[in-house]
Amino acid sequence: MWWEQDGHLEVRQNQLYIAGFSAEAFAKQYGTPLYVYNGNRVIENFRAVKEAFSEFKARPRIHFAMKANSHIAILKLLEREGAFIDAVSPAEVQIALKAGFPREKILFTGTSVSTPELKALAKLGITINIDSFSQMQRLRDLGFKGDISIRWNPGIGAGLHSHTITAGKFIKFGIPEHKIESAFLQAKAFGFNLVGLHQHIGSGWLGKDVDAFLETVGKTIAIAVKAEELTGKKLKFVDFGGGPGIRYRMEQAGFPLKKYAKGIVEKMNSSGLKAEIAIEPGRFIVGDAGIFLCEINTVEEKNIPVIGVNAGFNDLVRPAFYGSYHEIVVCSNVNGRQKKQYMVAGNLCESSDVFNESREALRELPTPNEGGILAILNAGAYGFAMASNYNSRLLPACVLLLDGRSYLIRERQSLDELIKSERES
Ligand code: LLP
Repeated sequence: MWWEQDGHLEVRQNQLYIAGFSAEAFAKQYGTPLYVYNGNRVIENFRAVKEAFSEFKARPRIHFAMKANSHIAILKLLEREGAFIDAVSPAEVQIALKAGFPREKILFTGTSVSTPELKALAKLGITINIDSFSQMQRLRDLGFKGDISIRWNPGIGAGLHSHTITAGKFIKFGIPEHKIESAFLQAKAFGFNLVGLHQHIGSGWLGKDVDAFLETVGKTIAIAVKAEELTGKKLKFVDFGGGPGIRYRMEQAGFPLKKYAKGIVEKMNSSGLKAEIAIEPGRFIVGDAGIFLCEINTVEEKNIPVIGVNAGFNDLVRPAFYGSYHEIVVCSNVNGRQKKQYMVAGNLCESSDVFNESREALRELPTPNEGGILAILNAGAYGFAMASNYNSRLLPACVLLLDGRSYLIRERQSLDELIKSERES
């Protein structure tokens, strides 16, 4: 199959194996719904990014965007690899600290940040990536004098869905171009130490969007030069955000890491800036390392053939929310010759609760069996991280595979946990 990779996803005697473990046996052992992460694949992806840059003699700060996957066990793997962190909420900052990241390696990029949150971050000594004049003003009112970075909106966005585009006109993030110089001047006037400039144009871009991204890299570098002129200080880093996509579908080409790294490094080298390069990949590091396993409850001809599973968009919302395509594999009959078009439906009371990219786009699958296991691939980024308790479904368990061993890294939520914060009137 197109998604097979030695040591990660393999088909042996028509069965799916993940990092050498039988997916079906594994699902029975830990129960389903279950997220399985191949830790070795996470490390491989991280190193691939690092090596792409080292080919051009650059050592960027690689801030893992933990919004994609914030399991402490995964964060610890990346900490050991030398990662930095992109955190978007105070709780993410606390989780990163708990996972062993020193505060100097954490950059906080929030939006609509409250004053108590700013206070807490300032107290922790985390570098705050400013996204509004209001934030700057309120930080000054708190007597803050520390390091800041500024997020600007370079005016060009890209992403796999309009919901994942984060730069351009109708976008809430960052300081717009026509106000960016006054933001630098204000930072200086307030006595802040401006150490970085940041952009993030969107998430999940591939192909020709890489050219649009590199155009914004050029624009951001020009603005960084301007920042140094206006503040009279050297920046420590220029952060180009995250966004590199992964191959969700057979027809897609993989992400052109080399072109991406080369483009950034060449533009930085020719700018005269001495600042470090920073990037914030999330999906690229963990996306293909995670597989979501669920069990088939029903197989039935309704108006259309429907496979009903024991999971729903509360576990993995990407298909329902973004119309995202995820490969679906019948674990015990991967290459079965007899195939049919199915709707793969979840167990929530919503019509949108399907794992196909839309209700109409039925998926051709080999004959499934009730009680069998389905694997949904490329679920490591924004999978568990976006899970919810809708329909009072319990959050799934998560397992990490590392060096031939398996570890339960998150227990299945219990009913007691679900209701423990409820109070009677
Ligand atoms: N940096 C910033 C400031 C971000 O807002 C994001 C993602 C990233 C880095 C990481 O982007 P990545 O490398 O993972 O593309 N839930 C959506 C994706 C939303 C991304 C939000 N921001 C999805 O499931 O596709």
